[in-house]
Amino acid sequence: MADLLQITHPGSGTERELAITDATIRATELRQFVVEGGPLATYDPGYVNTASCRSSITYIDGDAGILEYRGYPIEQLAESASFLEVAWLLLNGELPNASQLAEWEQLITEHRMLPDKLKTVLAGFPYDAHPMTILMASTAAFYSFYPDAQNFTDPEARALNIARLIAKMPTLAAFAYRKGKAKPYIAPDDAYGYCHNFLAMLFKQAERRYHADERLIRAVEVLFILHADHEQNCSTSAVRSVASSGNDLYTCVSAGVGALHGPLHGGANEAVLKMLREIGTVERVPEFIEGVKAGRVRMMGFGHRVYKNYDPRARVIKKAVDDVFEITGVNPLLEVAQELEKYGLTDEYFVSRRLYPNVDFYSGLIYEALGFPPEMFTVLFAVPRTAGWAAQYQEFITDPEQKIARPKQIYTGYARRDYVPLDAR
Ligand code: CMC
Repeated sequence: MADLLQITHPGSGTERELAITDATIRATELRQFVVEGGPLATYDPGYVNTASCRSSITYIDGDAGILEYRGYPIEQLAESASFLEVAWLLLNGELPNASQLAEWEQLITEHRMLPDKLKTVLAGFPYDAHPMTILMASTAAFYSFYPDAQNFTDPEARALNIARLIAKMPTLAAFAYRKGKAKPYIAPDDAYGYCHNFLAMLFKQAERRYHADERLIRAVEVLFILHADHEQNCSTSAVRSVASSGNDLYTCVSAGVGALHGPLHGGANEAVLKMLREIGTVERVPEFIEGVKAGRVRMMGFGHRVYKNYDPRARVIKKAVDDVFEITGVNPLLEVAQELEKYGLTDEYFVSRRLYPNVDFYSGLIYEALGFPPEMFTVLFAVPRTAGWAAQYQEFITDPEQKIARPKQIYTGYARRDYVPLDAR
């Protein structure tokens, strides 16, 4: 039997019982309490305490610092899986068997190329356009090349477009990067796996084959796995919200890329590096911390809406930092980051607010060591997150409970008043 929440309306003394299911009450059931101003509703800026969907994709326990995809702990996936295996898992609910994985990898390899005319779209951007802007606009442009994405209720058309997008995202990201460097585009190479091919498209020069250290390829794979999904965050909610009005995958993911770009979300990794550079040396850390405590600046890469404990992704990344620096040499900003973390974990300001390092705190240092400029960092978040967005989009499309997203508001403006002609104002 469901638990019941008993509510008594103080004015009339009316008593009502609301069913508690999955630790939630139905917000629409509150409407039966009619109060001054109308039927009762909830007010929840930023959806801090409101569930918008049922989802079986990603589980987070923010207090315990747990993250699982389809029940599998993120640490185990980062240790043993490939990114494409994880993408399949997110989309299909189970780990693929060997033949399913081989088929999936083949499908992704076949769809890596960009439509030729998309290069004309890319050419239209200024040379210094932010690669996230290019990514956002070009993802939306995909819809003009693949209009069958509108048939999203057809499972076959949906699956094809999801595969297309996951396959093309690294190519698009690499082209956006090379455009900024005025370097010729490098076509995808079928001989390489997903992450190796991505590095080749980014960094290949005139050499015939692109050789990357296996440990660096694995580091990218791990980073991609860690970023693949994170349940109902800002960008995923944007994807679902745009899907709710009946949009295709490309339009929805383009909205997700836009939401991710903000410095409070995926853009934090770029902001962390900027912050570390501005601080510059360990000696200047105390002064910076004073600024944070006085409310003048935020410590980027710290704090999370859901995690009130060490972000489990940050823990895995911290380990990868050591592996990568062993190959590339230590980034001198690591010392600054470690000193900041020391304050973050001991200073009363951070401890009392339960602010811990999040996924973005150390990822930028790895990206920089791998040779990426800061403006590419959020792109490196968007590429793997496409798998999560696609899985969430698919779940949304097939959820009969879902409706067009349409929050309420509390109106605080003028009461009705009459128009005043221009000459009377
Ligand atoms: N530095 C200093 N103070 C902070 C920080 C921070 N990074 N984050 C939160 N606070 C303080 C905030 O000022 C507030 O203090 P008070 O209660 O005195 O007003 C308290 O902690 C609660 O903060 P909030 O803004 O109400 O928390 P939120 O859940 O709305 O925001 C957040 C979450 C991630 C936007 C925020 O912690 C933040 O801005 N962090 C820095 C940006 C960042 O690293 N973002 C990446 C998030 S992880 C990647 C992703 O998935 O997007």
